[in-house]
Amino acid sequence: MEFYEVVNKRRTTRQFLNREVDFEAIKRILEAGNRAPTWDHNRRWQYIILRTDEEKDLAFSEAKKIAEGFDAERYLNMPRPYPITLGQKMYGYAVPKQYTMLKDAPYVIIPLFRAKALSGETVSAFNPLVTLWCVIENIFLAAAAEGLSCSMRIPLDREHDIVKAKLKVPPTYRIPAFIGIGYADPEEPQLEQCYPDLDQQLHFGKWR
Ligand SMILES: Cc1cc2nc3c(=O)[nH]c(=O)nc-3n(C[C@H](O)[C@H](O)[C@H](O)COP(=O)(O)O)c2cc1C
Repeated sequence: MEFYEVVNKRRTTRQFLNREVDFEAIKRILEAGNRAPTWDHNRRWQYIILRTDEEKDLAFSEAKKIAEGFDAERYLNMPRPYPITLGQKMYGYAVPKQYTMLKDAPYVIIPLFRAKALSGETVSAFNPLVTLWCVIENIFLAAAAEGLSCSMRIPLDREHDIVKAKLKVPPTYRIPAFIGIGYADPEEPQLEQCYPDLDQQLHFGKWR
C-alpha cells in the first residue's frame, strides 16, 4: 500500500471482527515499531502480548469498570451552554468501548519503556515516553498497511500501576498504552473527524 494511502486509511477502531490474525503479521508490525526513532539510540523497549480471554480479563478489569460505569446517554445529552463538540461526541462514543475494544481484539500489545521519572520541567524530560509514541505510531501505520486496525487505551491514573502489578512488569518499566490489533468491523459507526486547515497552522519565520 502506498504511504499516503496508509496514513489516510489509519483510524482508531473500537469494534473488531471475530477473525483470526496471523502472528507473522503481528511480528512484521512490531518490527516496524522497532524501526522508530529513539531518544537514547538503544531501543530497549519490550512488548507484552495478550491473546486469551483470561489474559485480557486479568489485565483490563479496571477498563471494564470504567466502561461499564459510564452513562453515555446522560453524558451526550447533558445540558451544555454550547453545542456538543466533536471531541465530546467521540468521548461519549469511546468510553463504553474501552474494555470490549481490547477484549475483542485478537492481539493486545502492551509496549513498555524504562524511565526513572515521568514528570519534568523540560520537554526533553519526556523523551523515553515520547520515543514509545514514535513506536506506537509505526505500529498503527504498519497495522493499516497489513489491512488491520488498532484500538488504543491510555491507562488512567491508578489503572497504570494496577495493570503493571497484575502483569508482573518490573518496577523500572512503564506502560504508555494498550493496543488492540485485529480486523476492523466495517459496520462500526464512523464519527465525524476534525481536520485542521493547514494554512491556518503555518507560521513562517516566527509566530504571527
Ligand atoms: C495520546 C492519545 C491518547 C488516546 N487515548 C485514547 C483512549 O484512552 N481511548 C480511546 O478509545 N482512544 C484514545 N485515543 C484515540 C483518539 O480518540 C483518536 O485518535 C481520535 O479520536 C482521532 O481519531 P482517529 O485515530 O480515528 O483518527 C487516544 C489518542 C491519542 C493520540
